[in-house]
Amino acid sequence: MPRAIISPSVLASDFGQLTAECKRMIKGGAEWLHMDVMDGHFVPNITMGAPILASVSKGVPGIFMDCHMMVAQPERWVEDIAKAGGSLYCFHLEAAKDPLSIIESIHKNGMKAGVAISPDTPSTDITHEVAQAADMLLVMTVYPGRGGQKFLDRCVSKVAELRERYPEKDIEVDGGVGPSTIHVCADAGSNVIVAGTAIFAAPDPEGVIESLKETVTN
Ligand code: DX5
Ligand code: ZN
Repeated sequence: MPRAIISPSVLASDFGQLTAECKRMIKGGAEWLHMDVMDGHFVPNITMGAPILASVSKGVPGIFMDCHMMVAQPERWVEDIAKAGGSLYCFHLEAAKDPLSIIESIHKNGMKAGVAISPDTPSTDITHEVAQAADMLLVMTVYPGRGGQKFLDRCVSKVAELRERYPEKDIEVDGGVGPSTIHVCADAGSNVIVAGTAIFAAPDPEGVIESLKETVTN
């Protein structure tokens, strides 16, 4: 299995202090920062877009921005996010007409490509061709749209299915993940862990990052 990576979701941070919050997480041991981009179409909420990401990458040099694109037309924002300093562009399979061509364009723009599936999308909807082309697969463990929701256990089997198919691929889980739900995710084979509330609301974010990483590694 690939190495453990913790990607705190800044959706749970104080947006007024976004760069400081990202620096705080990196200092606390996070390697990636999970940036939830919502467009008000694919999901009902609106969060942030390329201009904000550009400010963050300017303010936090070297940051790895794991951009979770909860947008209706994923092909539309690839260039903008790349220019804003995005490192990984993860789009939803449900929103993609031609996933392979989106992955190609993400790679052309110098980013890693991720493919996300929502709770009701079976893992088999990710074709072998698409999975092979992608650098990361994201299994949502809540319905996309907002932070602080309850972890959906029934999504975990999809992680296991994908891990069996792809022993070397980065597999990310996102939604309701924290100290009480990390074990099932780790057992199923996910190695990239997104956690918002569990990290940002903790009195000791460093400790949470460390213990999540340890659970995945061991
Ligand atoms: C949900 C987002 C998640 C969310 C995770 O739509 O994609 O990244 O912020 O937050 P928690 O960990 O609080 O569920
Ligand atoms: Zn997310």
